[in-house]
Amino acid sequence: MSGPPAGANMAQSRMEMAKNIKDEDKLYKLEGVIYSTIMSPAENLAAARIMEARADDVMLVAYPKCGFNWMVAVLRKIMAAVSGRTDVPDMPPLIEFFSPDVQKLIAQQPSPRFLGTHLHPDNIPASFKEKKTKMLVVWRNPKDTVVSFFHFMNKNPVLPNVEWDKFFTDFMTGEVPWGSYFDHALAWDQLMDEPNVKIITYEDLKQDLSEGIRQISQFFGFPLTEEQVQTIYSETTFSAMKEGSSHGKMGSIFFRKGEVGDWKNHFSEAQSQQMDEEFNKRLAGTKLGAKLKYDTYCK
Ligand code: A3P
Repeated sequence: MSGPPAGANMAQSRMEMAKNIKDEDKLYKLEGVIYSTIMSPAENLAAARIMEARADDVMLVAYPKCGFNWMVAVLRKIMAAVSGRTDVPDMPPLIEFFSPDVQKLIAQQPSPRFLGTHLHPDNIPASFKEKKTKMLVVWRNPKDTVVSFFHFMNKNPVLPNVEWDKFFTDFMTGEVPWGSYFDHALAWDQLMDEPNVKIITYEDLKQDLSEGIRQISQFFGFPLTEEQVQTIYSETTFSAMKEGSSHGKMGSIFFRKGEVGDWKNHFSEAQSQQMDEEFNKRLAGTKLGAKLKYDTYCK
């Protein structure tokens, strides 16, 4: 039996590192945005900022907890099916997690490279915009996102433990890793019509994953047969991914419930109202706001 993949090893070693760091030192702020000290130290962010994108890079973007790792699995499988390549590196493709040394390796990788980020669009390296690299952007309703984020904070040793009420308040004010959900969403709303941007939602994927796989493969120009779509579908449902996880210890962190509506088990009435008001104020009436189907999933 083969051991855990390189990505899992890296995650494991960073989890070890986290044991020696106090909770209060696990986050830091750069230009007003909170980041993980262990995963995204300033030198990683600086190296990401100047990285050279390519027009044929496959870029996956998501605010934290919107379904990033789900789509990592889908995209890896699409790329493997189309190219026959089985050597797509298994490390998390987040450009802000790459050390300057890893960035050097990434610069030498053959095309098409698979990259990802949780960064706000204004902080995505300029080169991606210049090259018009295709970006698949995953969104999720804010109530389930904050619940998923809350559990992630408490399960992931590289992040500090948090208490629900305080974390909810911090989420609403954007004082969480990678910044404000609402700021990210508003920025993507402005970019939705760019031909190199495709936005999909967690909820639509839950409803019809096969269709999501078809749309993603079409967007990136990776044609799949219907048989390949169905194979990828069966390998990327929540249960298939949870059971087949090769993420080592990270598996139980990445795959929690995988449902729509778990917020109902966490939110107080007042918190629900506060989120409704914030959504109304900031996102209702925008195109992305409509795509999130707030009334269906958050009421
Ligand atoms: P929950 O915490 O609500 O269960 P990210 O990868 O962006 O960190 O998002 C994590 C969320 O996606 C978690 O949500 C996780 O369970 C869910 N997820 C992971 N794989 C999934 C899959 N195959 N299908 C549906 N949800 C999945």
